[in-house]
Amino acid sequence: MKNYTKIKDISNLSETIKDAILLKMNPFEFQDLGTHKTLVMLFFNSSLRTRLSTEKAAKNLGMEVMILNVNDAWNIEFEDGTIMNGNSSEHIKEAAQVISQYADVIAVRAFPTLQDKAKDESEYVLNNFIKYSTVPIVNMESATAHPLQALADAITITELTEKVKPKVVLSWAPHPKALPQAVPNSFVEMMQNLEVDLTITHPEGYELSEEVTKNTIINHNQDEALKNADFVYVKNWSSYNDYGKILNQDENWMMTKTKLGKAKFMHCLPVRRNVVVEDAVLDSEQSVVIRQANNRTYAAQVVLKQILEEL
Ligand code: CP
Repeated sequence: MKNYTKIKDISNLSETIKDAILLKMNPFEFQDLGTHKTLVMLFFNSSLRTRLSTEKAAKNLGMEVMILNVNDAWNIEFEDGTIMNGNSSEHIKEAAQVISQYADVIAVRAFPTLQDKAKDESEYVLNNFIKYSTVPIVNMESATAHPLQALADAITITELTEKVKPKVVLSWAPHPKALPQAVPNSFVEMMQNLEVDLTITHPEGYELSEEVTKNTIINHNQDEALKNADFVYVKNWSSYNDYGKILNQDENWMMTKTKLGKAKFMHCLPVRRNVVVEDAVLDSEQSVVIRQANNRTYAAQVVLKQILEEL
């Protein structure tokens, strides 16, 4: 693997999921692979799980890890040809090449503006790192995608399913803040590549990009969509068409124990209790959110392993 910036960078998904589950059973099997190799993690935004699980994954492979909260460093300019007499002190052209000298792999987290759709869809932060870095790039959640989370979700469903083709429902939930579409985008794309029966449910106006949903079933009736579900993945996202706007805060969309039925409850975390999902769900054995967060380590580890093997 050269980079992991999108799900399509995985050449064999089923083998990669199997390998991640094997790494979980024996996390130090490849502890020499990353000797004298350094992962530099760059955070333009907050993180708990991605930061710790990716660091743990790298260390399980014997890598050194350096972390930079980019907001503590010089402001980076991403536009080409700009007269840099404003707030930006350093251009991505220099920054990416300099960081590449300290790193064997660079991982980047950079959320969308949720104000400028074209700019967000250009993935200007991630793509400029790909363009100007001289080492592999890993996406730790970009403007439009969170492929490490989606891989952890696929590992979780693969571990837990009791059916050849489980029914998986992605259900929108209310939230007081405007959130990105990155997690649902990557979850939908990942499920389209697994042997699952996928349904998406959300209020009208919350349609994800048609380039993501393709021919996946979308049902605006949450109760109907949830019937016979085996896995229910709950997530808020802001409107894609009315870009970045909150159109609905109807608390009836919150996930409850009654609505969940016998399904397993999934969420990428962090989650707002009794807004997105009621306590009774998160505190029940049907919730697999802690397992999902654990699987973030093995998702990151299998990706870093595949990258290190090609260095
Ligand atoms: N799910 C996830 O990416 O968590 P963090 O934002 O805490 O990294």
